[in-house]
Amino acid sequence: MVAEFPFAEQTSNELSFKERDERYERLHDWPDPTYLHSSGLRMIWKYDDVRDVLEAADPALSNGNSLDPLVGFPRIAGTPRAIPHFFRHLVPLPAKATANLTDDTLHKQVWDTMAGPAGHFTISRDERPQRVEAMVEHFHHALHGLDEGVVSRLDVTALSIAYAARVGGAAVGLPSADWPQVAVWSGAQSGLLGRRMRGRELAEAVGALGQLFTVSGRAVERSRRHRVTGFASRLHDAGVPRRVAVSAMANSLAAGVHTVSGSIQQGVQRLLSDPGREWWDLLADQNTAAQVAVKVLQLDPGLVAWKRRAVRPMTLRSGTELAAGPVLVMFAAANRDPAAFRNPLDLRGGGKLPLTFGFGKHVCPGKQLANLAVEVFLRELRELAPRARLSEEVASANTRKPDLLFSGADVTLTV
Ligand code: HEM
Repeated sequence: MVAEFPFAEQTSNELSFKERDERYERLHDWPDPTYLHSSGLRMIWKYDDVRDVLEAADPALSNGNSLDPLVGFPRIAGTPRAIPHFFRHLVPLPAKATANLTDDTLHKQVWDTMAGPAGHFTISRDERPQRVEAMVEHFHHALHGLDEGVVSRLDVTALSIAYAARVGGAAVGLPSADWPQVAVWSGAQSGLLGRRMRGRELAEAVGALGQLFTVSGRAVERSRRHRVTGFASRLHDAGVPRRVAVSAMANSLAAGVHTVSGSIQQGVQRLLSDPGREWWDLLADQNTAAQVAVKVLQLDPGLVAWKRRAVRPMTLRSGTELAAGPVLVMFAAANRDPAAFRNPLDLRGGGKLPLTFGFGKHVCPGKQLANLAVEVFLRELRELAPRARLSEEVASANTRKPDLLFSGADVTLTV
C-alpha cells in the first residue's frame, strides 16, 4: 500500500497536538521535498527551503500573493452576495502595505515604523513591565467579559480570542469600543487566506474584512484631525501615504488575533495533556514561563504556513526544485525538521532559529508583542487555575474547519 501524504487531506487546525506531532514526524520522513496539494499550492517543509522561500531573496520568488484569498478573486467576484460588501468597503482597492508589498523602499519605510529600534510595536527592556501590566489587565477584562454560566468551566478558546483582540486593538490604537469586533473581522481575514470558503460564508468574510479597512481608515482620519499620537501618527510622521497607512493598520489588526490566540489554545492543550504537567508548572516562574512560551510558539503556532509564488521554475540552494506557481511555506513543520532541531519536543533541545515569525525583510513586526502576549496569558491562566484540567467532551469532539494557514484548538477547562 502506498503511504498517504500526512497533510494531503487534513490540516493542522483539525488535529489534536498529538496527531500533529505524529504527522509532522511522518512528514519529515516523506521521500520528496515538495508536495502539490489539491488547493494548487505546492507544499514545502524542510527548514532550509522554508527559510529561503520566506526570505525570497531570489528574484524568482515573490511575496506578492501572500495576502491573496485562497479561493482567488474570481470566486469572490462570482459570489453575488459578496459584491455589495466589496463595493461598500474595498473600492478603491486597499493599498499594499506589508506582507504583499513588493516595493522595497516603501515597505522598509512601513516596516521600520512598526519594528525598527524605536518602532511602534518594539518593546524596550524599560517598557516591558508596563506592557506586562497592560496585558494582565487585558486578560482580566477579557475574563470578566466571558459569558460563562458555570464558573467551574472556562472556555480558553473564547478567552484567548477576546484577550488577543484587546491586545491587538490597543497596540494598533483602535478605539476600545471596536475591540470586540476586531476578533470577528480578523477571523474573516484569516479565513479568506487559509480556507476554501464559498457562498454566504465567503460574502460575510468579505464584509468583515471590509469593516477592518473602514475602521482603520477612520482611525487614521481621527489621528490626523485631532493629532492623536500613536501608530497612525507615526506612519504619518514617517511620510507613509495615507492609503498605505490604512492598510498597515488593517493588516496589523488582522495579523495579531488568531495567530496569538491559536498559539495559546494549542499550547494549553499540550501543557495540560501531560500527566506530569511539567511545562504547566514551569509557568509559575517568570524565567521558565518565557521558555515555555517560546516552545509553544515553535511547536504549535496559531499560524502554521504562509504563501509565496515561484514566478518561474527554480532550484533552491538545497537542490529542491520548484515549479512555477504558488507555494505553501509550512514553517510550523520546518520548526520540527530533525536536520535543524535534533529533539524538537524537548524544552531545552536547542537548534536553529524557529521560523514561526518568518525570515528576512518581512519578518513579523509583532514578534515581541506576540511572544509577550502568549507568555502573559499562560502565566495568568496558571495563576488563576493551577489545578485546571482539560474538559473531556470538548477534547473528543473536534469540529474545527480545514485551514491551510491558521491553527487553533477548542479548549475548555474544568477549574
Ligand atoms: C503568534 C503570533 C504571530 C505569528 C505566528 C506571526 C507570524 C508572522 C509571519 C510568519 C509573518 C511573515 C509574513 C511574510 O513573510 O510575508 C508575519 C508578518 C506580519 N505580522 Fe505577524 N505574527 C504574529 C503576531 C503578530 C502581531 C501581534 C502583529 C501586530 C502587531 C503582527 C503583525 C504582522 C505584520 C504587519 C506582518 C507583515 C510584515 C511585513 O510584511 O513587513 N503579527 N507575521
